[in-house]
Amino acid sequence: MAKFTLPTNSKVKKGRHFPAPAGATNIRTFKIYRYDPDSGDNPRTDSYDIDLDTCGPMVLDALIKIKNEVDPTLTFRRSCREGICGSCAMNIGDKLGGTNTLACTKAIDDYEGEIRIYPLPHMPVVKDLVPDLTHFYAQYASIEPWIKTDSPAPTRERLQSKEDRTKLDGLYECILCACCSTSCPSYWWNGDRYLGPAILLQAYRWLVDTRDEATGERLDMLEDPFKLYRCHTIMNCANTCPKGLNPGAAIAETKKMMLERQV
Ligand code: SF4
Ligand code: SF4
Ligand code: FES
Repeated sequence: MAKFTLPTNSKVKKGRHFPAPAGATNIRTFKIYRYDPDSGDNPRTDSYDIDLDTCGPMVLDALIKIKNEVDPTLTFRRSCREGICGSCAMNIGDKLGGTNTLACTKAIDDYEGEIRIYPLPHMPVVKDLVPDLTHFYAQYASIEPWIKTDSPAPTRERLQSKEDRTKLDGLYECILCACCSTSCPSYWWNGDRYLGPAILLQAYRWLVDTRDEATGERLDMLEDPFKLYRCHTIMNCANTCPKGLNPGAAIAETKKMMLERQV
């Protein structure tokens, strides 16, 4: 008979509670997923009561405060603190539900009551809020994300008209945070073979770059029942992208290019 419950060792247990310092009056609770695969313990959620009067305004500020002042074992990635590196991508929400987003650009005040923080969904967890992106990056490498040319190299840079350059708008801004891919149901179920919205948006970025001379080769690479065609236009990707991009539209344009070369 089919089993619809998690195996016992995967169930998320209630973890520790870290109260706010005495005298704090402006308190917010952060409930955070904790998991250390090396320990053999089940994942758990720890609760941290944080004094917002001594904390910066963003969710990442609270995480850094917890790590620096309350619990140095909490593990998460971050670098730029301004929505550029993509490393602080995680699932953040409140009682109304969570979304994949960047902790550094999400204000604590955007949430009501207890804030719940989990790693990006459906990815193996290295530790706590750190997902294993090895496969995601291998998929990125597979689309050969660099300019490919056969014509002789010019003596200076390869020029592009302003009009051609605008074709990259809405694509070049992608920071490869993986928020979209890890919100895509098709990627959850077929991520081993489906490239997912982030990588397909990047693939399209090279397809429309007028300096690139490998369009046919790139389309050949995507001509596969799984790599591209698992997108069912559910559009979770566009709804979650913290940079306001629309990978679903880039995928639709890629499918159009596939069709156009057949007629
Ligand atoms: S498209 Fe948006 S959500 Fe997806 S990886 Fe790029 S920046 Fe992140
Ligand atoms: S539009 Fe395609 S890529 Fe985006 S969430 Fe839906 S199935 Fe995934
Ligand atoms: S820390 Fe770089 S995007 Fe958040």
